[in-house]
Amino acid sequence: MITKSVKAFGTESPEANLKQFNIHRREVTINDVEIDILFCGVCHSDLHFARNDWGMTQYPVVPGHEIVGKVIQVGTGVSKYKIGDLVAVGCLVDSCKSCNNCKNDLEQYCPEWVGTYGGYDKHLNTPTHGGYAETIVVNEEFVLSVPKNLDLAGIAPVLCAGITTWSPLKHWKVGKNSKVAVVGLGGLGHMAIKLAHALGAHVSLFSRSTNKMEDAKALGADAVIISTEETQMENVMGKFDIIIDTVPYAHDLNPYINTLNTNGTLVVVGYLGPLDPMLVTVPMIMGRKSVAGSLIGGIAETQELLDFCGKHNIHSDIEVIDIQDINIAYERMLKSDVKYRFVIDMKSLKA
Ligand SMILES: NC(=O)c1ccc[n+]([C@@H]2O[C@H](COP(=O)([O-])OP(=O)(O)OC[C@H]3O[C@@H](n4cnc5c(N)ncnc54)[C@H](OP(=O)(O)O)[C@@H]3O)[C@@H](O)[C@H]2O)c1
Ligand SMILES: [Zn+2]
Ligand SMILES: [Zn+2]
Repeated sequence: MITKSVKAFGTESPEANLKQFNIHRREVTINDVEIDILFCGVCHSDLHFARNDWGMTQYPVVPGHEIVGKVIQVGTGVSKYKIGDLVAVGCLVDSCKSCNNCKNDLEQYCPEWVGTYGGYDKHLNTPTHGGYAETIVVNEEFVLSVPKNLDLAGIAPVLCAGITTWSPLKHWKVGKNSKVAVVGLGGLGHMAIKLAHALGAHVSLFSRSTNKMEDAKALGADAVIISTEETQMENVMGKFDIIIDTVPYAHDLNPYINTLNTNGTLVVVGYLGPLDPMLVTVPMIMGRKSVAGSLIGGIAETQELLDFCGKHNIHSDIEVIDIQDINIAYERMLKSDVKYRFVIDMKSLKA
């Protein structure tokens, strides 16, 4: 198959810094859209993947799954998009389209879903490469429309941080009168606060320090609980209907379960792996409480969220960076030193 060489930023090993090299994109096939990437958000998953934290990375890897850009070419069978349209691509670029999950708009749970990076390009028979690149070629079914009123850089994180928190908020039917808590104020956490607030819920943040208190309130939180303060944790025992836990590393879930109301659910979206310490089942049994997980969201649900953001004028709070500063950005993200998402201006790669 014919391919095109484009500039990208990625890494060839878990220890190495990200650097510039060229990758191959397929030429548009009948249902493909070629997108000139304008902005790409920086997710903590990009860092996990670049450094092989999950033990599944194939190198070289080009991260990036919060992509916003402009259509520059369409295949002959494309009907949804035309050259010049502003579009977005999130974490998914393909799936089987025939399993029950695909039929129910849950492509993210399709056994054959293809990640924007670290997946497998069925046309090229090579690993997929993400949005830290000049362009990307994606089947139109996995391309999203960007509402015209939204800031293009500010909307990029909605494609992962936004949908990952929106999907559980919707699944567990958060609305007016819901009591929602969010653990960790980073990329996902700040979107969770904004979205739960926009849905009319009472929103609390669990954070490790007082540093982010004012910011959390400005983002829409009604209360902030310092998770390292025992009395503050005791004061919110039995309070929440749902907790969205965005912490990226193994941590103790038990203190948070105590803060759930009867029938409450703690949804883990941040950490992938075995828990340490283990869960204590007593409070779960005594209060019919659940611990659940959730993965990004489907294509229709992501479009629904983009439209919701357009209607309510919701953006991510971002720091725009050049691609050449990505290694510094990763180190800052590890120290939770970002307000609250880095977004790469892809002009810097093209210069
Ligand atoms: N399930 C999914 O579909 C999905 C999708 C996207 C991302 N993720 C994962 O979600 C996680 C969060 O991503 P992100 O981009 O939001 O990361 P982030 O911007 O780095 O934010 C994570 C936040 O968690 C808190 N935190 C960090 N280290 C901690 C620790 N050791 N103990 C307790 N709290 C800690 C910090 O908040 P405070 O300073 O306020 O405590 C930090 O700001 C990552 O692991 C990512 O891979 C999952
Ligand atoms: Zn992500
Ligand atoms: Zn499927």
